[in-house]
Amino acid sequence: MIDTPTRRALLGAGALVAGSLFGIDRGAAEGPLPPTPACHDGNEATLVQTEGPYFKPSSPERIELFEEGMAGQPIELIGLVLTRDCKPIAGALLDFWQANAKGEYDNSGFRLRGHQFTDAEGRYRLRSVVPGVYPGRTRHIHVKVQPRGGQVLTTQLYFPGESQNRSDSLFRKSLLVRTAKNAGWLAGRFDFVVG
Ligand SMILES: [Fe+2]
Repeated sequence: MIDTPTRRALLGAGALVAGSLFGIDRGAAEGPLPPTPACHDGNEATLVQTEGPYFKPSSPERIELFEEGMAGQPIELIGLVLTRDCKPIAGALLDFWQANAKGEYDNSGFRLRGHQFTDAEGRYRLRSVVPGVYPGRTRHIHVKVQPRGGQVLTTQLYFPGESQNRSDSLFRKSLLVRTAKNAGWLAGRFDFVVG
């Protein structure tokens, strides 16, 4: 008998992949995080970008935007929210929104929209699909990041190796997600630095 991978198994594989590839493993949440190579003293804050036309307030609180039967490449994106001197920020709000694999936003409901808060170690984890392109735009995920009581940082994340990165005037290299593929899941890492 051939086992059909269940959603739970897929998600488990994703979690394992991103955690082990990028040094953040929520399974071993007790230990301190290794220093992130992206952060060093005097770091610039993450680049601010336009919100665009498709943000909707009041997204559901969830890390899981991937839904059964959803088309597209599943991705698990993990990372930290850090101060400019590289200290993890607990309880920071992250609100993600993105197009589906066809490049379409859900503007009537909340598909592929969700907010969450960093844990005590400043970590976040998002499970979703790689967004599709739409006219004028390369692949990107929108996000707002806000430390408790702090300023909102609005930006967009991009994917390496995309030919349309070159023709999208909003694309910036500093907003590239680091990616690695394994077990059908794309693992992604991006650390936000807020000033
Ligand atoms: Fe967009």
